[in-house]
Amino acid sequence: MIGNKLADLQDRKEKIKEGGGQKRIDKQHQSGKLTARERINLLMDEGSFVEMDAFVQHRCSQLGMEKTEAPAEGVITGYGTVNGRLVYVFAQDFTVLGGSLGEMHAKKICKVLDMAMKVGAPVVGINDSGGARIQEGVDALSGYGQIFYRNTIASGVIPQISVIMGPCAGGAVYSPALTDFVFMVDKTSQMFITGPQVIKAVTGEDVSSEELGGARTHNSISGVAHFMSPDEKQCIEDIKTLLSFLPSNNMESAPAYDTADDINRMEEALNQIVPDNPNKPYDMKEIICLIADNGEFFEVHTYYATNIITGFARFGGRSVGIIANQPKVLAGCLDINASDKAGRFIRTCDAFNIPVLNLVDVPGFLPGTNQEYGGIIRHGAKMLYAYSEATVPKITLITRKAYGGAYLAMCSKDLGADVVLAWPSAEIAVMGPEGAANIIFRKEIEASDDPASTRQAKIDEYKDSFANPYVAASRGYVDDVIVPSTTRQRIISALDMLLGKRETRPAKKHGNLPV
Ligand code: HXC
Repeated sequence: MIGNKLADLQDRKEKIKEGGGQKRIDKQHQSGKLTARERINLLMDEGSFVEMDAFVQHRCSQLGMEKTEAPAEGVITGYGTVNGRLVYVFAQDFTVLGGSLGEMHAKKICKVLDMAMKVGAPVVGINDSGGARIQEGVDALSGYGQIFYRNTIASGVIPQISVIMGPCAGGAVYSPALTDFVFMVDKTSQMFITGPQVIKAVTGEDVSSEELGGARTHNSISGVAHFMSPDEKQCIEDIKTLLSFLPSNNMESAPAYDTADDINRMEEALNQIVPDNPNKPYDMKEIICLIADNGEFFEVHTYYATNIITGFARFGGRSVGIIANQPKVLAGCLDINASDKAGRFIRTCDAFNIPVLNLVDVPGFLPGTNQEYGGIIRHGAKMLYAYSEATVPKITLITRKAYGGAYLAMCSKDLGADVVLAWPSAEIAVMGPEGAANIIFRKEIEASDDPASTRQAKIDEYKDSFANPYVAASRGYVDDVIVPSTTRQRIISALDMLLGKRETRPAKKHGNLPV
């Protein structure tokens, strides 16, 4: 008797594992995609995945659905370990009704989110779906609503990672948008609110789905996605790397790892990296790689707003979020997109107890009507807000320019930086010498017999007085002016000193972040 029941159980499970059948699986493979189960197997440590709710079925009896079987309801859910740490996962199965989301499919995802919240573990959601299951009407819409609600409640409590590995259309894109990180795969994933046909009908615009919502578009133009991988295998490796920098929840610290990299390592190259000519660019990423453990930097938003750099590195084995101006792009100016990118990243680090390191070489906010009309005031305010609000250890290093509002927006002492260090090449002032001399010495320059040389003399005078770190250091806005080669050691020492940092804020419902 039991033998029959066991065989029946085995049969049922086998059938569920076949998903939408070999033909659809082959089609999935031919289009450069893996199946939902293959993706989960790549993500999870071997043998660790435990499936939940495999027997769940839809309850729809309309439009032929009463005769339609949907193995695992088109989404595989469960938990397992990634590099030994508990992670929850859901992966939509495109071979089953196009991975479309109905009432019970949504319930499975909600159960995963609820469980992950209860135990405090990250969730990885793999999206590959035609969106709301048309046959289920408002029940499908309600399913999405329940997911959005949980994404929001879980925000800042557990890391939520969205992976787009196929179509993601309509309101379905809002679940990924509510999570902490969005991964896309080049050429095989798309996100859009309305697809090319609707756009053509409404606006007459011709656009391909790749151009409209492919990985390149969302990584470099819209900023919706944080990561782009060349294929699904690499994407899953990237997810594992990201998880290694994050704690499992907001009550924990990110895991620390042993490092063979000497915490006292001196880097002579840093003494020469900033050019003598203040208008000459250099690559801030070189500095990051010279100071971080093993020269490793895991960049976030690599292709978006490249005038600012964000990403994770380790110092003495501990996770640190880096926010750095990039003098190579727009001279490192802050603009709308850079402010959004940095503001978001700072809040992500603060939510998950990851100290921030700010590397400053910023000539100011980008001037222009585009920026003003686009709301640079409210966007730039996001950085001021995010830094002021953050209670994690905040370390700021000024390598060269730190001018005006942008000096403050890159986490000056006044916004709560715990340690501010400057290199001798630092210039901290209200504005650059040329602009300043033109304004405060205008009358003298105009009245002079030789305006050009008077102007130069005034620029030099201003430079001597202000374009250095010592005025700021004399007021205590800069804690120390350091030899660049000692930077790694000084940052690690500051991080060690700040390990026990505890800072509280007044109780409130929530702040009103400028958006
Ligand atoms: C039910 C769906 C479906 C859907 C696809 N399928 N989308 N079933 N509801 N939304 C089914 C197909 O009927 C087909 O079933 C199988 O999935 C594979 O689909 P194909 O069209 O054959 O695949 P492909 O050519 O690769 O095209 C994929 C696609 C296309 C681009 C995703 O299917 C498509 O445009 N789907 C509709 C997308 C859409 O407009 N969704 C609603 C968005 S609005 P068989 O049995 O033949 O294998 C929305 C609102 C959410 O989501 C609101 C939240 C607030």
